Amino acid sequence: MWEIKTLTPEQFALFERLIYRKTGIRMQPGKITLLSNRIRRRLRHHGLESFEEYYTLLTAGSLKGELTEFIDAVTTNETSFFRTEGHFDWFAGPFLEEMAARVAAREHPRSLKIWSAACSSGEEVYTLAICLAEARGKLAGWQLRILGTDISDSSLAAARAARYAGRTLENVSPERLAQHFEQAGDAWVVRPSVKKPCEFRSHNLLTPLGETGFDVIFVRNVMIYFDRESKRVAVGHLIDALAPGGSLVVGPADGIYDLLGGMERKSSFLYRKPSTDGRSRAAPRAGGGA
Ligand SMILES: C[S@@+](CC[C@H](N)C(=O)[O-])C[C@H]1O[C@@H](n2cnc3c(N)ncnc32)[C@H](O)[C@@H]1O
Repeated sequence: MWEIKTLTPEQFALFERLIYRKTGIRMQPGKITLLSNRIRRRLRHHGLESFEEYYTLLTAGSLKGELTEFIDAVTTNETSFFRTEGHFDWFAGPFLEEMAARVAAREHPRSLKIWSAACSSGEEVYTLAICLAEARGKLAGWQLRILGTDISDSSLAAARAARYAGRTLENVSPERLAQHFEQAGDAWVVRPSVKKPCEFRSHNLLTPLGETGFDVIFVRNVMIYFDRESKRVAVGHLIDALAPGGSLVVGPADGIYDLLGGMERKSSFLYRKPSTDGRSRAAPRAGGGA
């Protein structure tokens, strides 16, 4: 029987392959202690005594819902409000201005469809919602929708609860806290008016979303954990989901630039899908990092 200490290289390889198949994430051998610790918690939870027993039950599907719990336990869910603030400066500024101009020129319906892919506990979604709330005047009468998706059910539950405290709020100014959140003890809950356009759904980036026509997709700090093949598959689905002329915002270390061949590079974090006529219209310029 395996002992509950640290995974052996062979045991690590078994779990690593399972994680890769389910998420596209490649865990480096250097993560053996981290993975051992995370799996050990699941063993304790089920009163199991060995990694082997857990792996067998996990892959046989005998532990109901455990695969989801396992994926939750081994993925990195770190996020925060206004993470990489320049991306939101672009969104709230040049992007919204250009969309308003397109609407005024009757080139676009009075609507905005946004996808925060791999949104973790929802901070990215609500940061975008705060930007929209602050542009209320410009967007009067528009149909707004922000879809947040993630593979982790516990992250999605936290996103739906919209209750935050501590470091994640570090970049939220006192004025914004007062305006967009309600205080609940030590925590802050996103106001219903800000939450209104937001919706959350479970989704694996390795599969098509089943919905298209997004004006902008934020997909940040997730593909950094993918190998090249997973990145290629995910990027293909993301580009398919974008509307012609739609924008893709990527994280600083996601390493997918060479997979975005069909897209027009606007800056280090911003790519644009060509419009149907193949021309790029007055593209919103990204400030910083370009
Ligand atoms: C580090 S967080 C990034 C959150 C947010 N995008 C940000 O930049 O702050 C990475 C998220 O990717 C999710 N994730 C990992 N693999 C995924 C996959 N194959 N499909 C969808 N989400 C995935 C994890 O559950 C986690 O919540």
